[in-house]
Amino acid sequence: MSNLLRELLDHGVLETVLFAVLLLGGLSILYYTVRTGVPPMPSHPSVRRAVFRMIPDRLAPATIYELGCGWGGIAFELAARYPEARVVAIELSPLPWLVCHIRRLLQRRANLEIRRADFLKSDLSDADLVFCYLMVVPMRGLQRKLAGELKPGAIVITSTFALPDWPVEGTETVPESMSATIYRYRAPG
Ligand SMILES: C[S@@+](CC[C@H](N)C(=O)[O-])C[C@H]1O[C@@H](n2cnc3c(N)ncnc32)[C@H](O)[C@@H]1O
Repeated sequence: MSNLLRELLDHGVLETVLFAVLLLGGLSILYYTVRTGVPPMPSHPSVRRAVFRMIPDRLAPATIYELGCGWGGIAFELAARYPEARVVAIELSPLPWLVCHIRRLLQRRANLEIRRADFLKSDLSDADLVFCYLMVVPMRGLQRKLAGELKPGAIVITSTFALPDWPVEGTETVPESMSATIYRYRAPG
């Protein structure tokens, strides 16, 4: 152990810094959960598998958006599954967004763009495929945005919470994750 590290440990500096970092991280998550109304809760692996099953087999999307990508689990998988596509992962909460960037140092994905932004203020008009796992309240605002912006026929997949008024094209229930339902829609023409 270097002398500097020993000095820092002896004076309790490292513990104080670690505590401050954890506290700030926790407060940041709390603040953005209240602000967006959605916690950065990752999808269960069985839900992830169901989401991929819901994507039509012959779809060759050029542009994919994950709205609220959290810690990046699904975005990284989308980028691996569709290497020809540009995958745009949007996240407002700084800590999960930062973790996605750190994760990309370990899991290289040349076609993955990680953006710190509010997806409600982002241009989604070039999307061929959109995925989100949010909560009940944001779904109505999102529905309005998607209806006004998406190309006719673009695929939208939502986890657990439905778009309130769009006709559902397909669903799958995931018993391993409290019977969560995955919904598939096509943007109206
Ligand atoms: C329940 S998590 C889902 C994470 C990931 N999509 C998954 O399925 O594993 C939802 C994420 O959406 C983010 N979020 C909610 N509203 C947002 C907004 N308007 N713009 C960007 N991110 C948002 C939250 O910060 C949270 O991390």
